[in-house]
Amino acid sequence: MNIGAVDHIEFYVGDAQQSAFYLCTAFGFRVRGQAGPETGHPDRRSLLLRQGGIDLVLTSALGTDHPAADYVARHGDGVANIAFATDDAAGAFALAVERGATAVEEPRTHGEDGDEVVTASVLGFGDVAHRFVQRAGGREDFLPGVFDMIAEDPDETERLLHTVDHAAVCLPAGQLSQTVEFYQKVFGFRQIFEEFIEVGEQAMDSKVVQSPSGEVTFTLIEPVVDRRPGQIDDFLARHGGAGVQHLALLTDDIVTTVPALEARGVKFLETPDAYYDELTERLGRPDLRIEDLRRTNVLVDRDHWGQVFQLFTQSPHVRRTFFWEVIDRHGARTFGSGNIKALYEAVAREKAMA
Ligand code: FE2
Repeated sequence: MNIGAVDHIEFYVGDAQQSAFYLCTAFGFRVRGQAGPETGHPDRRSLLLRQGGIDLVLTSALGTDHPAADYVARHGDGVANIAFATDDAAGAFALAVERGATAVEEPRTHGEDGDEVVTASVLGFGDVAHRFVQRAGGREDFLPGVFDMIAEDPDETERLLHTVDHAAVCLPAGQLSQTVEFYQKVFGFRQIFEEFIEVGEQAMDSKVVQSPSGEVTFTLIEPVVDRRPGQIDDFLARHGGAGVQHLALLTDDIVTTVPALEARGVKFLETPDAYYDELTERLGRPDLRIEDLRRTNVLVDRDHWGQVFQLFTQSPHVRRTFFWEVIDRHGARTFGSGNIKALYEAVAREKAMA
C-alpha cells in the first residue's frame, strides 16, 4: 500500500458556511470550491478551503440521511475523514479491507479525460475514516463532478501555513496498543515515538505512528486509568468517544506566523516566563531567539535530528475539545518529551483560570 501525504481533511460541521468564515478570517484559508444541491448533491453542503498544501473540506448535512447529521449530533463539529494520497485507491481499499478494516465508501471514479480522481474510504478510529485519493491530474479540480471550483488559490505571499504536520487522537483507556497494531497491520505505518506523560496527578500514554512516506503522522493518546481522571478523559466524555483532539499545521516561520494569527483573532495558550528562563539549561541554545519565543509563547523541544517549535491554540470548539497547533520544524522529525507535557500543563492552567 503506497500512502503519500495527507490529501485533505474533512470535517463534519453544523454549519459549513460559519465554520468556513472562521477558518478563513482567523487562519487565512480561502474557499476554493463548493458542493451541494447545485452540483447534484441535495443531501449536503460542502466547502473546500485551501491554504498552501492544506485542503480542508467542511461538510454539513441538509437532512437526516447524510452521515454528517448523526456525527454532529454525537460529537459536535469535528474531523470525520483524514484522506491519504495514494497511487491506487481501489487497490489500497481492497488491501485495507482484507487486512481487517471496515469499508465506509466503495471505490468511485470522479471525472474523466486524464483528470480522474478515484476515492474509497475505510474506518480508522472512532467515527473517523480514511479516504484513499488517487489523482490522475493535479489538484486544480479537487473532485471533478462533485465540487465546483469557485475561486483562485490564495496568493502564496499571504500564506501563513502550508502542510498538515500531524493529527493527535484521543483514545479510550485500553485502546492505544490495539490502535497502533491496527495502523501497522492495515496501513503499514511504523511506531516512531512513545512517551509516558505525567501532569500533576494525571497521566497519559502516547505513541506516534507514521506512514512509510514519513508524511502522515498520528499522535495517539490514552489516559492511564489508575491515576486521577484528566484532560483525555474530559475530551472522551465531551466528544463522545475517540476522536481528533488537535491538528498541527506546519509553518516556515513560527515567530512571525503566531502574531499574524493572533492579529486575525486566533487565541493561543500562554506559556509562563519561567519556561524561557530555564530553556537553555534544559535544551541548549534554541535556533530562534529566546526573546522572540517569549514574546510569542512558542515552545521549543528537540529530538535526535534537530529542534521543533510549537504552539497550541485555545479550543475554539463549543465543547472545548478540538484545537489547533502551529509547528515549525528545524530538523526534528519526531517530537520532544517537553512540549507534550508543556501543552497539558498549559491547558491545566487555562482551566484553573476559567
Ligand atoms: Fe501535536
